[in-house]
Amino acid sequence: MNELEAKIRIEELTTLINKHNYNYYILSQPSISDFEFDHLLKELEQLEKQFPHLAHPDTPTQKVGGDITKTFVQVKHKYPMLSLGNTYSEEELIDFNERVIKGIGIIPQYVCELKFDGLAISITYENGKLIRAVTRGDGSVGDDVTANIKTIKTIPHQLNPGDYPQTFEIRGEVFMHRKTFDKLNKAFKKELEEKGLDEEEIRERLYKNPRNFASGTLKMQDSKEVAKRPLDCFLYFVYSDTPIAENHFDCLRKAKEWGFQVSDHFELCRDIDEVMQFIRRYEAARADLSYEIDGVVIKVNSYEQQQELGFTAKNPRWAISYKYKAQSAVTLLEKITYQVGRTGAITPVANLSPVLLAGTTVKRASLYNADEIERLDLHEGDWVFVEKGGEIIPKVTGVYIEKRLPTANKICYATQCPVCQTPLVRKEGEAVHYCPNEDGCRPQLIGKIEHFIGRRAMNIDSLGGETIAGFFEKGLINNYADLYALTANQLLGIEFDTFNERKDQWSKRSLQQKSVDNILKGIEDSKQVSFERVLFALGIRMVGETVAKKLARHFGNIDAIAKATKDEIASIYEIGDKIAENVVAFFGNAGNVELCQRLKAFGLKMQVDHDQSLNRSDKLKGKSFCVSGVFSMSRDQLKALIDANGGRNVGSISKSLTYLIAGDKMGPEKLKKATDLNIAIISEDDFLKMIG
Ligand code: IVH
Repeated sequence: MNELEAKIRIEELTTLINKHNYNYYILSQPSISDFEFDHLLKELEQLEKQFPHLAHPDTPTQKVGGDITKTFVQVKHKYPMLSLGNTYSEEELIDFNERVIKGIGIIPQYVCELKFDGLAISITYENGKLIRAVTRGDGSVGDDVTANIKTIKTIPHQLNPGDYPQTFEIRGEVFMHRKTFDKLNKAFKKELEEKGLDEEEIRERLYKNPRNFASGTLKMQDSKEVAKRPLDCFLYFVYSDTPIAENHFDCLRKAKEWGFQVSDHFELCRDIDEVMQFIRRYEAARADLSYEIDGVVIKVNSYEQQQELGFTAKNPRWAISYKYKAQSAVTLLEKITYQVGRTGAITPVANLSPVLLAGTTVKRASLYNADEIERLDLHEGDWVFVEKGGEIIPKVTGVYIEKRLPTANKICYATQCPVCQTPLVRKEGEAVHYCPNEDGCRPQLIGKIEHFIGRRAMNIDSLGGETIAGFFEKGLINNYADLYALTANQLLGIEFDTFNERKDQWSKRSLQQKSVDNILKGIEDSKQVSFERVLFALGIRMVGETVAKKLARHFGNIDAIAKATKDEIASIYEIGDKIAENVVAFFGNAGNVELCQRLKAFGLKMQVDHDQSLNRSDKLKGKSFCVSGVFSMSRDQLKALIDANGGRNVGSISKSLTYLIAGDKMGPEKLKKATDLNIAIISEDDFLKMIG
């Protein structure tokens, strides 16, 4: 590579790595695997070694990623929080061992620990009492997340009596157990579905793995919310000005006695062969752990030897991490099936020959949409790579081309709905295919009723997916309006299938008087639900909670919405042409109009409440607001006021922002950006005056 080429590549890599660091540390939503990231970083390191004068002054090879979010108080670390050099190969590990031996002149003992896949935390104790907890940040300054850390049950607020120094810092990894992640992410998915987001948006917003969920949680401003998402923490390193022990192994044992949760999986190894054995053992055993690990950390045991070896700009020379590659397997793609969602959206699913991956048998993987199948260039009978990097659903990452038969045909995407055989449609510019038969396609009909009863819609929690499907099969309901015509006589004693998760099997259940009363009461109570939620419950494509609120506030009642033209709807602030088209299409369907009339006749709210409209105004119409800092009310309350008065909430500062509402402890970066862009900065009082 000549100098010019190197300059261009270094620029490219620097920008790319900075972007990936931002996705990982700030957004908690990485878009590439660790393996790919490390590969990019290594390439940049190599080029900078060859052409040192071309290295960017702020190069990511010389600093740790950075998770500062500007909303927490920032604290300087007394002892910098460095990261570790890492490797994926045994040869490089042998090189590390040789460098260590050269540095200290003898074969050292190593402590092998698991590399927990979470986020680093540094906790300060004074006289045995937890004083402060700070994230790694950029390695020298981090976020003060003490209130959030105190919600973690395994982190002691007060230590057991012991010989700990008066002041010390202990470092560890905050993480989320797999089971907690699965449960919370499923609930989060349901919440997003109920909010009316489409499948693609949901896929983007869901946390991809326990690490991202833990990171997103620790950065939340409200520690009460953090407490609802149980995190855990293993501690693995103590810093103090007064010596605690002669070596790391003894120090870990002491930390355990003082009351810290230190993982049981650490061992003293007498040489690099024993280190290798530890690594191999845990590569197999990691699937049985209740949490994710992404490798093994190897540390020189003796503190004296650690001191002798010292540090590079970024890493200690006495430790390294060996990272495991993402777990993947090769299996046969048996066929592709297609699922139909409530809006008619089609999701292709890869049905695979069962294969063992990371401790579970994988039989299915999502293929998202037709573009993904095209990208993978899938052919019939292909052998495919499936990967599981902590995600709930494994993904197909590639094709084992060498195993493809020359006669294999390319996969043709379905042209008809798998349930009702209606030809599928795909609108221009959209990735998803739809079944347009919304009035006759079973999963769409049932899905719409399920959406209608959802918690954020009509909130009829005495009904569930199985009862709805049961009523539908028995011909008792065909749409959501039919729910309001159900009688006790119809329901008493009817049987439907129910799934017992514990026994993993289906069985029959028949409805008894108590359940029937409960169901009918839930349906009756739902008549008190506000108009904006009824509007959301109707399941109009692209009309989620926020859009439903805007429509309800603008038009006031269902008849006005049904009569509105596309242009009238699209003229409402933040409602685009596509949403307007879907609203007009919904009310252009005579069946939907009849459904709304029936709901009205049953007594559901089809107009905004009088007192609800009194508190609302258009005073902030056309204005956007960014809220930053601490206020006399909660930020959510403030945002709701902006919303109720026709303003728009935005999360970041840009040229087009109208006002920044500044509270106490506002991040200095935000303030600077707003001043630079000449944005009007107002106080909470100024804002309240604005809305009178
Ligand atoms: S020791 C100077 N031990 O991995 C010592 N780190 O790539 C630094 N990590 O920043 C850390 N498990 O967030 C250490 N048993 C373990 C670890 C561990 C996970 C994380 C930690 C660190 C990163 C380094």
